[in-house]
Amino acid sequence: MFLKKFKLPRLAHNWVSALGGVIAGITALTMTFLYIVGGFATETNPYLGILIYMVMPPVLLVGLLLIPIGMYRRRRQIRMTGGEAYPAWPYIDLNRRSHRNGTLIFLLGSFLFLILAAIGSYEGYHFSESVTFCGTVCHEVMKPEHVAYQNSPHARVACVSCHVGPGADWFAKSKLSGAYQVYAVIANTYPNPIPTPIKNLRPAQETCEQCHWPEKFFGAQQRQYNHFMYNEQNTPWPINMLIKTGGGDPKTGQTAGIHWHMNIGVKVEYIARDKHRQDIPWLRVMDLRTGRVTVYQDSNNLLSDEEIRNAEMRIMDCMDCHNRPSHIFRSPDLAVDLALLTDRIDHTIPEIKRVAVESMILEYSSEDEAIKEIANHITSFYRSDYPEIYKERREVIERTILATQEAFAQNIFPEMGVRWSEYPDNIGHFISPGCMRCHAGNHVSEDGLTITRDCNTCHAILSQGSGERAQVATSQEGLRFEHPEDIDEAWLEMGCFECHTGTAP
Ligand code: HEC
Ligand code: HEC
Ligand code: HEC
Ligand code: HEC
Ligand code: HEC
Ligand code: HEC
Repeated sequence: MFLKKFKLPRLAHNWVSALGGVIAGITALTMTFLYIVGGFATETNPYLGILIYMVMPPVLLVGLLLIPIGMYRRRRQIRMTGGEAYPAWPYIDLNRRSHRNGTLIFLLGSFLFLILAAIGSYEGYHFSESVTFCGTVCHEVMKPEHVAYQNSPHARVACVSCHVGPGADWFAKSKLSGAYQVYAVIANTYPNPIPTPIKNLRPAQETCEQCHWPEKFFGAQQRQYNHFMYNEQNTPWPINMLIKTGGGDPKTGQTAGIHWHMNIGVKVEYIARDKHRQDIPWLRVMDLRTGRVTVYQDSNNLLSDEEIRNAEMRIMDCMDCHNRPSHIFRSPDLAVDLALLTDRIDHTIPEIKRVAVESMILEYSSEDEAIKEIANHITSFYRSDYPEIYKERREVIERTILATQEAFAQNIFPEMGVRWSEYPDNIGHFISPGCMRCHAGNHVSEDGLTITRDCNTCHAILSQGSGERAQVATSQEGLRFEHPEDIDEAWLEMGCFECHTGTAP
C-alpha cells in the first residue's frame, strides 16, 4: 500500500538512478550529522572541516547527477529496444501518481539541497578563511608561520586579514593560488624553506591599513631592549630608548619621524640586488607635492645603467620595515635574552647565556634531534665544568634545559629550514641590516645629500647598562651610545649586525 503510494516514474527504476539516490541520501545525512557533531566540539578540527566542506559536497553532487543520468540511459535503452515511444522532451503529467511523486521529490530535494548548499558554502567560506585551515591543515609546511604567529601581537588577527584582505578579486585570486598550494603540499613540490619576501603579497594599503593607517600620528614609543652578556655572570645590559615613530597627515602637520617614509606626501622606490631585499644600492624619493625627485646611490656598491634599466622597482610600504609583524623568528641570542628576562632561564647559573645559545645553533636535522641534543649539550657542560653546581642545582638546570628547548621550538624549525637568518627582520639594525640598508651613511644623491646615519634621528637613549655602569639621560637629547664591551668604538663605522649575527658576537 505504502509502496504503491510511492510509485516513481518508470524511468527512475534503474540501477544507476537508485545508486545515485542512495549515495546522495547517505552523504546528505552524514554531512548533517558531522555538522551537528562539529558544533558540539570544543576545538575546531581542520580535518572535519575538510571532510564536510571540501570532500563531501562533490560526492553529494555526483550522487544527485547520477539520478537523471540513469533516467536518460534508461530512456535510450527503451527506445533502442523499440519499447514505449517517449517524446523528445521530458513531460510531466501531474494526474499520474508516479509523476506527482517524482515532482514532489524533485522539488523537496532541490529545496533541501539549496539550503544545505547555502549553509555549506557560507560555513565552507568561513572555514577556508579560518586560522585553523590556514595554519594547521598543511601541518608541517605552515608550522613555523603558525607557531610564530601565535606568539606575536597579531595572534588574534586572522591570516586572511593580511594575506587576502577585502574584496572579491583578491578572494578569487587567493582561492586559485590556494588550490595550487594544496596541490603542492600533496605532491610534495613546495619550496623549503618557503621563500620570503612573498612575491605578490597584496599592497599594504589594502591590508595593514584596514586597521592601522599612516596618517595617524604615533608620536614616540618607549621601548626597553633587554640584553644579557656572554660572560660568567650573564650581566644584564638593558637599553631603554624612545623610538621616534612619528607619522601624521601632511594636511594637519606633523609629518616627521620614522613613519615619514609612509606619508602620503612622499613616495620611496628602490631596487634590491638580492631576493631577500637586503642589499639596496639604489633608491628614489619623490615629493608628491612639489614633484621633486631625488635619486640616492650606495657609493660603495654602484649599479650600472644597464642594471638600473632592467631592474624591478619596488614601492616602499609598511612591509619593507614591518616584514615580520606576525611571524617573528627570533635568533638564539634574542630568544635566550627573553627567557632570561622572564626568569624561565635562571641568570644566576654561570655562563648560561653562552651555553644555552650554543646549544641552539648547531645544525640539527629535526626538532626531535635538537630537543635531545640541547639537553645533552647543557648537561655535559655543567657536569664537566661546574660539577658542584650541577650537583646542587640540578633542578634549576633541568628547568633551564626545558626553557631552552621551548625557545628553540618556537623559533627554529629544522624540518622546514626556518631560522632567523633565513627570515631577516627589517625593523631596527641589530641582527640584520634593516634601516641600515639605506641609512648606513653610504647612500648619496647627485647633489651631495646623504641619507642620515645619525643615531639621534630615529631614537634617543634614555638609559643604558646596569650596576655600576648604568647611565640615565638627563636631557631630551638622550645619551651617547656606549658599547658594553670595549670595541674601540667600531660601532661608529660598522653596523651592529656585522658582529651581532644572532649568536655570540
Ligand atoms: C599581521 C599580518 C599577518 C598575519 C595575521 C599573518 N601573516 Fe603571514 N605574513 C605577513 C607578512 C607581512 C609576511 C612577509 C611578507 C614579506 O616579507 O613579503 C608574511 C609571510 C608569510 C609566509 C611566507 C613565509 C615567511 O615567513 O615569510 C607564510 C607561509 C605565511 N605568512 C603564512 C601565514 C599563516 C598560516 C597565517 C595565520 C596563522 C599568517 N601568515 C598570518 C603578515 C601576516
Ligand atoms: C585586522 C586588523 C589588523 C591588521 C589587518 C593588521 N594589524 Fe597590526 N595590529 C592589530 C592589533 C589588534 C594589534 C595589537 C595591538 C596591541 O597588542 O596593543 C596590532 C599591532 C601591530 C603593531 C605593534 C606591535 C607591537 O610590537 O606592539 C605593529 C607594528 C603592526 N600591528 C603592524 C601591522 C602591519 C605591518 C600589518 C600588515 C601586514 C598589520 N599590522 C595588519 C591589528 C591589525
Ligand atoms: C621606515 C620603516 C617603517 C615603515 C615604512 C613603516 N613603519 Fe611602522 N614603525 C616603524 C618603527 C621603527 C616603529 C617603532 C616601533 C618598533 O620599533 O617596533 C613603528 C611602529 C609602528 C606601529 C606601532 C606603534 C605603537 O603605538 O606601538 C604600528 C601600528 C605601525 N608602525 C604600523 C605601520 C603601518 C600600518 C605602516 C604602513 C602604512 C608602517 N608602520 C610603515 C617603522 C616603519
Ligand atoms: C629603502 C631605503 C630606506 C629604508 C630601508 C629606510 N629608510 Fe629612512 N629614509 C630614507 C630616505 C630616502 C630618507 C630621506 C632622506 C632625505 O631626503 O632627507 C629617509 C629618512 C628617514 C628619517 C628622517 C625623516 C625626517 O624627519 O626627515 C627617519 C627618522 C628615518 N628615515 C627612519 C628610518 C628607520 C627607523 C628605518 C628602519 C626601520 C628606515 N628609515 C629605513 C630611506 C630609507
Ligand atoms: C634610520 C634610523 C636609525 C638610525 C640612524 C639608528 N638607529 Fe638604532 N634603531 C633604530 C630602530 C628603528 C630601532 C628599534 C628596533 C626594534 O624595535 O627592534 C633601533 C634600535 C637600536 C638599539 C637597540 C637594539 C636592540 O635590539 O637592543 C640600539 C642600541 C641602537 N639602535 C643604537 C643605535 C646607534 C648607536 C646608532 C648610531 C650609530 C643608531 N642606533 C642609528 C633606528 C635607527
Ligand atoms: C666590532 C664588532 C661589534 C660591533 C660593530 C658591535 N658590537 Fe656589540 N658586542 C661585540 C662584542 C665582542 C660583545 C661582547 C659579547 C658579550 O660579552 O656580550 C658585544 C656585546 C654587546 C651587547 C651586550 C649583550 C650581547 O647581546 O652581547 C650589546 C647590547 C651590544 N653589543 C650592542 C651593540 C650595538 C647596539 C651595536 C651597534 C650600534 C653593536 N653592539 C656593535 C661586538 C660588536
